[in-house]
Amino acid sequence: MSRRLAVAVVGLGIGRNHLQAYQALPDQFEIKAVCDLDRAKGDAAKTDFGAGAAITDYAALLAMPGLDIVDICTPPNTHRALIEQALAAGLHVICEKPLTGSMADLEAIAVAAKKARGTLSPIFQYRFGSGLQKLKLLQEKGLCGKPYLSTIETSWRREADYYEVPWRGKWATELGGCCVSQAIHAHDMLCYVNGPVKNVFAHLTTRVNPIEVEDCAAVSVQMANGSLATLAVTMGATEELSRLRFMFEHLTVESRSTHPYRIGDDPWHFKGRTPAIEEKIASLLAGFKPSAESFAGQFARIHAAITGGTALPVTIDDARASLALITAIYHSAETGTAVALPIAASHPKYANWMPAARRW
Ligand SMILES: NC(=O)c1ccc[n+]([C@@H]2O[C@H](COP(=O)([O-])OP(=O)(O)OC[C@H]3O[C@@H](n4cnc5c(N)ncnc54)[C@H](O)[C@@H]3O)[C@@H](O)[C@H]2O)c1
Repeated sequence: MSRRLAVAVVGLGIGRNHLQAYQALPDQFEIKAVCDLDRAKGDAAKTDFGAGAAITDYAALLAMPGLDIVDICTPPNTHRALIEQALAAGLHVICEKPLTGSMADLEAIAVAAKKARGTLSPIFQYRFGSGLQKLKLLQEKGLCGKPYLSTIETSWRREADYYEVPWRGKWATELGGCCVSQAIHAHDMLCYVNGPVKNVFAHLTTRVNPIEVEDCAAVSVQMANGSLATLAVTMGATEELSRLRFMFEHLTVESRSTHPYRIGDDPWHFKGRTPAIEEKIASLLAGFKPSAESFAGQFARIHAAITGGTALPVTIDDARASLALITAIYHSAETGTAVALPIAASHPKYANWMPAARRW
C-alpha cells in the first residue's frame, strides 16, 4: 500500500468540501489539522472531520512536524503569500482558484515552486467528472477529428446574501467577478479539451447585483488550435445551468449533467457523424473505467503523483492559461479591442488585470 499523506486544510468555507473529499480517501490521506482565523470554524471542522488539531496561526501550522500537504482555501487575495510560505516550508501545496491575481504574481509563484521541494497543485476539480474524462479518452484515441466550435455556458445565480461575505464582489479581495470566480471552471474545461486561447474579444457588464466586479460576460474566442469558442456567463439565471458543447469533425459532445456545479460528471452525450463512428464511440466508451470525481478525483490523482513521482493532474501551466484568459478578457472589455495571447511581461495588464476604468 502506498504512503498516506498528512494534509492540513486552511480556510473552512469550501475547505469543508475538501475535508469531505479527504475523508472519502482514508487510505491516501490523514487529516492532520484544520486552520482558520475563526476559531469556532476550526473547532467545528476538527470535530466534524476528525482532524488531529485545529489551529488559528498559519505559521504554527507550517511548523507542525509530519505535515506533507497544505491545502489553501482562503479568499483569493491571500493565496500568493500563503502559497509562498508553504513552499518555503518544504511542503506540498494545493490551492483553490484563482491561484492568484495577476500574471506577474503567477510567475513569481512559478519561480518559488521550481525551487521548492514540494509540488504545487492549483484546484480545477471539475475536470475529473466522468463525462469529461470520456471525451478525453475519445480525444486520446484520435476519434474527434478537427475541432470546429465550442459553446460554454455558465448560467448561475448569486444574490445579496452571497455578497454579504465581505471579500466577495470587490476587486481588491475577490480579484474579479464571474470570469474569475464562477466561470473559471468551465473556461478551464475548454482549455483542457482544446488547448490554449489565441485571441479574445469580451463584453462585460454588472447588472444583477450592486457589486464592483462584472456579473455577466459574453466573450468571443479563437483557440490556438484554430477552432472558435463562445463563453456566456451570468450570475442572474433563475434556473441554474452549466453546459459545454464541443463540435468536432467526427462528433458533437454535450454535457448534460443537470447539476450546475458538477458539469464534468455524467451524463454526457456523444453523437458521431456516421453509424461507423457511433459504433467506435460505443465500443471505446464500453471500456471506460470511472474513477473518483470532483475534489476527491483531483486529490486521489495528486496522491498518486506525489507518491509515485508522476505528473500532477493540474499544473501551474494550467493556472497560467486560466489567468492569461482572465487578463485578456478584462483588457478587451476595458479597451474595446481584441486581445492576443499569450500575455507577455510587457503587456500593460501583466502586473494587474484590474481595469483602470470600468467601461460597462
Ligand atoms: N473550487 C470550487 O468549486 C470553489 C467553490 C467555492 C469557493 N472556491 C474558492 O475557495 C476560496 C475560498 O472561498 P470560500 O467561499 O470558501 O470563502 P469563505 O469566506 O467562505 O471561507 C474562507 C475562510 O478562510 C478563512 N481565512 C481567511 N484568511 C485566512 C488565513 N490567513 N488563515 C487562515 N484562515 C483564513 C476565513 O476566516 C474563512 O473562514 C476562494 O478562492 C474561492 O474562489 C472554490
